[in-house]
Amino acid sequence: MSQAPFGRRLLRVTSTDELGAYRVLRVADPHGPKPRAGQFAMLAAAEHWGGGREQRPYLPRAFSIARHSGGEAHFLLEDVGPGTKRLCELEAGDRLWALGPLGRGFTAPPEDLRAILVGGGVGIAPLAILQDAIAAPVTVLLGFRDRAHAQGATLLDSARVATDDGSVGHRGLVTELLASEIERDPCAVVYACGPAGMLEGVRALCARTGTPAQLALEAGMACGFGACFGCAVPRRGGGYLRVCLDGPVFDAGELERIDEHAGLSEVGQPV
Ligand SMILES: Cc1cc2nc3c(=O)[nH]c(=O)nc-3n(C[C@H](O)[C@H](O)[C@H](O)COP(=O)(O)OP(=O)(O)OC[C@H]3O[C@@H](n4cnc5c(N)ncnc54)[C@H](O)[C@@H]3O)c2cc1C
Ligand code: FES
Repeated sequence: MSQAPFGRRLLRVTSTDELGAYRVLRVADPHGPKPRAGQFAMLAAAEHWGGGREQRPYLPRAFSIARHSGGEAHFLLEDVGPGTKRLCELEAGDRLWALGPLGRGFTAPPEDLRAILVGGGVGIAPLAILQDAIAAPVTVLLGFRDRAHAQGATLLDSARVATDDGSVGHRGLVTELLASEIERDPCAVVYACGPAGMLEGVRALCARTGTPAQLALEAGMACGFGACFGCAVPRRGGGYLRVCLDGPVFDAGELERIDEHAGLSEVGQPV
């Protein structure tokens, strides 16, 4: 596993692009450790973060490293609150603080199994760097709310898309595409990232069909490196796992049912 150097790094934004409902943020990180697919970084803009009238955002936010090439790290952002809004405002030349790569990433598929990548919404981000890392062809299944979000699928190659409203690809859930893929050829290993409901659907399907699966969780985080226990999720058989340190990628068998608010603190969201 790549270890982040102690302390955060001040990095410069090289470019940003709109990708449908998302924003792709690229930052120069020539001296940072090479991330493993599935690892993440804690990001905070260098200016207008942790100050001002509303004092939000204050804590850095967790983002999957979506791609790493030519000394640049790429992130896929969806504006859902103060932290992502601020990061989406950044332009080339602006600076941000980054701590990472953090956490445990994906493990490469065995040679005899086909990899099926299953992503939902902004959870497609760690699957892009995973596809880059796997030399063999993979099956890519991505689910989105609508056409604007489905444009995110261009981050990966040869994706089959499902949308809730049927505006692009299969009308329905990406787990329906996964069920027919496993039925067609069960010699597969599944890699998934997305909202809790989707991950629970993938976990249950893979448990039922005996398909090995690695799941990347996106539980709310405060510190990102194991100190606050704000990201704990129940471990199958008892006890807890910290998503930031023991994950964010877990073998599906390590986890109990994936709860809608798994890992979110009592106050419900980071500050
Ligand atoms: C390992 C990891 C990787 C991530 N990768 C990405 C990524 O690549 N791109 C991206 O856009 N986001 C990613 N996220 C999610 C992102 O860190 C959170 O959504 C973050 O809280 C956004 O900050 P905010 O201030 O914009 O919104 P907030 O004000 O923190 O949250 C906005 C709304 O979303 C809800 N919410 C926040 N976090 C979560 C969560 N984890 N699960 C369910 N609901 C939540 C809040 O309750 C609130 O209603 C990742 C999270 C983790 C832990
Ligand atoms: S976010 Fe602090 S322990 Fe995981």
